[in-house]
Amino acid sequence: MWAIGSDHGGFELKQAVMKHLEERGIEYRDYGTYTPESCDYPDYGAAVGRAVASGECERGIVICGTGIGISMAANKIDGVRCALCGDCFSAEMARAHNDANVLALGARTLGEGLALKIVDTFLDGEFQGGRHARRVAKIMALEDRG
Ligand code: RB5
Repeated sequence: MWAIGSDHGGFELKQAVMKHLEERGIEYRDYGTYTPESCDYPDYGAAVGRAVASGECERGIVICGTGIGISMAANKIDGVRCALCGDCFSAEMARAHNDANVLALGARTLGEGLALKIVDTFLDGEFQGGRHARRVAKIMALEDRG
């Protein structure tokens, strides 16, 4: 089960990504926003982040105008490793090296075709482990703020 969420800036692209997930037979839960009305991206970044961090969903996709604000919000949730990707190589490495569990996209910076390719690359990517696991563990250790 995947989690997906966006603000108004990402609403249209979210519709396209959900259709794409359906076509690929991937189950997802839509955490909003459910209308194109103006709203606040931290609410949706946090909702998707919490769904992934709690284990309710395996991975997530968050979308706002640039992908910046919503990725910042998602990364505030402990357990989330959200990667903002504007190209397929970054999406591949985000999975292979960083074990990213949330993908962020910018709806106003990407065309739909590229965005869906990035989604596919992230979906199909696999974490390589090994030395990368040590580094990811060091990232997660930064959450122990005491
Ligand atoms: C909303 O206008 C816009 O600020 C938001 O979608 C996003 O780009 C923020 O990072």
